[in-house]
Amino acid sequence: MKTLLGIDIGGSGIKGALVNAETGEMVSERKRIPTPDGAHPRDVAEVVGQLVASFKYKGVAGCGFPAVVRHGIVKTAANIHHSWIGQDVNWMLSDISRCTVLTVNDADAAGIAEMSFGAGRGQKGVVLILTLGTGIGSAIFVDGKLVPNLELGHIKIRGRDAENRASDAARQDKDLTWKKYARRLQEYLDEVQALVWPDLIIIGGGISKQTDEYLPLIKSQAKIIPAQLLNQAGIVGAAMYAHLQS
Ligand code: BGC
Repeated sequence: MKTLLGIDIGGSGIKGALVNAETGEMVSERKRIPTPDGAHPRDVAEVVGQLVASFKYKGVAGCGFPAVVRHGIVKTAANIHHSWIGQDVNWMLSDISRCTVLTVNDADAAGIAEMSFGAGRGQKGVVLILTLGTGIGSAIFVDGKLVPNLELGHIKIRGRDAENRASDAARQDKDLTWKKYARRLQEYLDEVQALVWPDLIIIGGGISKQTDEYLPLIKSQAKIIPAQLLNQAGIVGAAMYAHLQS
């Protein structure tokens, strides 16, 4: 069995678990430490170090990160401290945790897990995964192959960043009814579909367990289905990413 540590750095929590990278199952308890206020590089790295130490883990770990990460370098910072931009996150996290940490965009990680073991299993064509949480993450797979770092959370809707209108955080902040939220999501999905024309859309993130409340209100050319791995996708996908890279 190939067991790796998967870590998911999110807007509110940094989570980790040991994962069987071949079956996608979590083989330990899932641990969570709140994301430090401001998500400053040093503070986040320290929490990742604590998490790795708590598993007494040695080896290669995968880490989902809520920004564009190209070849280990952070390129954007929407929901994390802006000083992350330009940082070698693989180096930082590996140095503090004393194991090799390979980082991938969090939505890409969730997508990898869903495509292998969840709602996207065996799906050909263009599959779009949208994670609706603190922000909006997006990942696209063409015949099962990931095109990394697709960023559809920041397209402009009514002059504003889409994730400030249609993420789960936006819904909660504004205390929107499901009907009102569905209207915002509809507007967003219409724009997204005009850009990428997916065959299938998988809705993940914190809100994916409540799809009964809003998906029936949405009209879409592409089929839309909820993610299956719920809050495990990020951790599982991160571990799988590291497994595939190492
Ligand atoms: C970031 C994405 C990330 C998403 C979910 C967005 O603000 O730009 O890279 O995947 O939030 O965390």
